[in-house]
Amino acid sequence: MDDKTGGTASIWMTVEVPTYAPLRADTHADVCIVGAGIAGLTTAYLLAREGKSVVVLDDGPIGSGMTARTTAHLSCAIDDRYYEIERLHGQKGAHLAADSHCSAIDRIEAIAKEEGIECDFERVDGYLFTPPGEPKEELDRELKAAHRAGLTDVEKVERAPIEFYTGMALRFPRQGQFHPTKYVAGLARAVERRGGRIFTGSHAASITGGSRARVETSDGRLVTADAIVVATNTPVTNLVSMHTKQAPYTTYVIAATVPAGAVHKALYWDTPDPYHYVRLQTMRSADGSAKDLLIVGGEDHKTGQAENYQERHQRLEAWARERFPIGDVEFRWSGQVMEPVDGIAFLGRNPGLDKNMYIVTGDSGMGMTHGTIGGMLITDQIMGRESPWEPLYDPSRKSLRVSGILEFVGENVNVAGQYLSEYVTGGDVGSPDEIAPGEGAVIGLGVTKMAVYKDEQGNLYKRSALCAHLGCVVKWNSLEKSWDCPCHGSRYDRFGEVITGPANRGLAPVKE
Ligand code: FES
Repeated sequence: MDDKTGGTASIWMTVEVPTYAPLRADTHADVCIVGAGIAGLTTAYLLAREGKSVVVLDDGPIGSGMTARTTAHLSCAIDDRYYEIERLHGQKGAHLAADSHCSAIDRIEAIAKEEGIECDFERVDGYLFTPPGEPKEELDRELKAAHRAGLTDVEKVERAPIEFYTGMALRFPRQGQFHPTKYVAGLARAVERRGGRIFTGSHAASITGGSRARVETSDGRLVTADAIVVATNTPVTNLVSMHTKQAPYTTYVIAATVPAGAVHKALYWDTPDPYHYVRLQTMRSADGSAKDLLIVGGEDHKTGQAENYQERHQRLEAWARERFPIGDVEFRWSGQVMEPVDGIAFLGRNPGLDKNMYIVTGDSGMGMTHGTIGGMLITDQIMGRESPWEPLYDPSRKSLRVSGILEFVGENVNVAGQYLSEYVTGGDVGSPDEIAPGEGAVIGLGVTKMAVYKDEQGNLYKRSALCAHLGCVVKWNSLEKSWDCPCHGSRYDRFGEVITGPANRGLAPVKE
């Protein structure tokens, strides 16, 4: 499949997904969904099942955003820990979080079965372990909090069932794993079978809620709708309100061969910060042969705020080689995670006056379940049903308690620091001569900053280096060959065209 997000390719990009034409005529639907990843297509599928007419728009192929860059752990073991969720959202909130993630795994399993989607869905156990040297009491704290959240079958075990000594671990039974692009391909076909319409190569340039809700594409086509769902990983409709409540992090993944049967099939997470996450995936070739690949992720950092991107993969490989019998590394990629300040995604009605605009964002590293919860919750809201999950995930919630507020302040001080430091510095290089072929750099011209990419033939592509969202200076990402914004995570391809919001247009052209 094509990829719209970067210079690396994930293990999930080796499969073909259905292709769709761009929107070529104005149309109307009950619901217009912007974004054809797991969140958008789950929402479209569930609404189509309820008899709603749906139109899905995406500027890239289906599933080509972060859905193709996940590691597809399906888990109700929350990355931010149940004791943290309980502290920030109360015991009831933790209970709802557990219930919603478990329900999302059940729903994915049910959809795959009912729609005959062959997406390698499997139930596996998950193990959270503390490596030697890490505080052991974290597991006990988390075990008690998970039990209070209703996950009474979580248990403490002597070690995770892998070769190296992990130390004590928590076992979360009946988690899951699947192949995300096979799944969204099946979802798209199921949407079509129920009369839904999907258009790709159609960039939603303007999105307006309210009584005259409409989405206009960059080539001037119009979708009018009774409701709009913005499922673009981070919303392209909010200029400010959501982007001060979540922070973008880049995470790194490798997939390496392992001998069949050498690693017990399960999900594994350790407890350092940033942590490692591990699972197995069997890849089958057209000739029927199969091989196991160990998928290992970690090395997270704030987007646009790191150097030496390639070293992240080297460190992951070294970590994995010390612990697992891995052979060749066949895939290396990165992805972006949106971290909400209080550990819970933002799913439901968009803040503001327009009650018929909905968003799915703040995946918190659990995008497959959070995207599915978003589809389930928003379907209930559009159908006029009450959902017990609504207050927990409400994008307008006021539940940021003391520590959540500190996190909130910390992330926004970090953003303010990006503005200050980048505006007063001169740029990465002084002239294009200093840029290697195939690379990019920011050049300072007084107070102006220019993002310059030099292709392999030496041709230069120049754009303003000021992010089209709120004007932070973008950074060159040498791994993905992209321009990344350190403030709220907008990303642009090497030529300056937008890949990921909150910006909804490319870097501005420069006049010389
Ligand atoms: Fe907000 Fe760039 S993403 S300023």
